[in-house]
Amino acid sequence: MPLIPAEVTLFTAGTAAATSLVGSIVLLRLYKLRKWGWVRSTDSLQGKTFIITGANTGLGYEATKALVRRQATVVMACRNMAKANAAIAQIREELGAQRGGALVPMELDLGSFRSIRKFAGEVQRTIPSLYCLVNNAGLAVRVPEYTQEHFEVHFGVNHLGQFLLVDLLKERLLEQRTRVVVVSSRMHEIEAEIDFANLGRWVAYSSRLNRLYNNSKLMNFYYARELYKRGFNVHVLCPGLCHTDFFRHYEPKWYHYLVFSPIVWLMLRSAEQGAQNIVYAATESETTQERNPAKGYFVSNVKIRRSKFHFDEETSVRLWNESVKAIEGAR
Ligand SMILES: NC(=O)c1ccc[n+]([C@@H]2O[C@H](COP(=O)([O-])OP(=O)(O)OC[C@H]3O[C@@H](n4cnc5c(N)ncnc54)[C@H](OP(=O)(O)O)[C@@H]3O)[C@@H](O)[C@H]2O)c1
Repeated sequence: MPLIPAEVTLFTAGTAAATSLVGSIVLLRLYKLRKWGWVRSTDSLQGKTFIITGANTGLGYEATKALVRRQATVVMACRNMAKANAAIAQIREELGAQRGGALVPMELDLGSFRSIRKFAGEVQRTIPSLYCLVNNAGLAVRVPEYTQEHFEVHFGVNHLGQFLLVDLLKERLLEQRTRVVVVSSRMHEIEAEIDFANLGRWVAYSSRLNRLYNNSKLMNFYYARELYKRGFNVHVLCPGLCHTDFFRHYEPKWYHYLVFSPIVWLMLRSAEQGAQNIVYAATESETTQERNPAKGYFVSNVKIRRSKFHFDEETSVRLWNESVKAIEGAR
């Protein structure tokens, strides 16, 4: 019987192991794609007006496209009008022959109280009936940045900006049972806290994570809880890790690509898939007495699930009160 050289055996075993590893990763990816979910409804949204903040790119852009495809009117609340208009042209091109609903660009910089007030005034004047407000705009930065009112931006833009906007529109939102969507993140469950001693200040926490961002996403959830308790039709969500412009300030080293690429490939959704969670929260998800933001429920993978975070009432109310003070103090 001919002998098989050891190198051949090793080579064959190595190839088999590599093939089964790649096969497992591909299978896992396919499983995840299925689990991440998709909004199936194609019902017309004609006659319904949505506002989406940060609609010019990423998740806001994809959610806008999905809604306008279903004949909705979408107000694209963006801080840069040139980007908003470019996004509109791109959506029209992508939709092609499908006519879709209306796209209305409107200027909104959530880092400026003046801009937020101007925007809210324009909404009051020009939109008689508002079906849904999606508080999507958000950012994560690596070096200190501040809003016009001198709040560091994770607190100022991700939390306080939408707090002021909703406050200015509150009568309308309550009266019309407008769906208020708050885009949070699973990061609210990871190393996040409401650091009252430093609210609105830049803090260099000793952590590999961007704690200021995680804290702001926890604020989003606490805020949604309070809105629910105060009678708003509110839905909070996590879109999952998505391929968008969100990571524009992240500067990976070459070995990060090497080490993390397979993990990222496994975990990363397209912006279109992540935006399904926004579309679901904006059009379909329902809150009940048992399953609502105040009880820790949020939209993830296009269904409702419960957060692992242990929310406490005192923090919830205190954050609300501190936010009221912050918007009143800067008047
Ligand atoms: N991508 C993810 O993996 C992920 C995961 C969990 C949660 N999220 C959340 O999803 C939301 C959308 O993120 P994305 O991934 O779509 O990021 P993105 O592609 O960077 O889009 C963010 C949007 O927010 C806008 N924005 C930033 N600062 C603003 C300000 N001061 N005023 C008004 N608009 C402002 C941006 O406008 P410009 O284009 O002018 O900068 C952009 O339109 C964020 O709240 C984020 O925290 C994202």
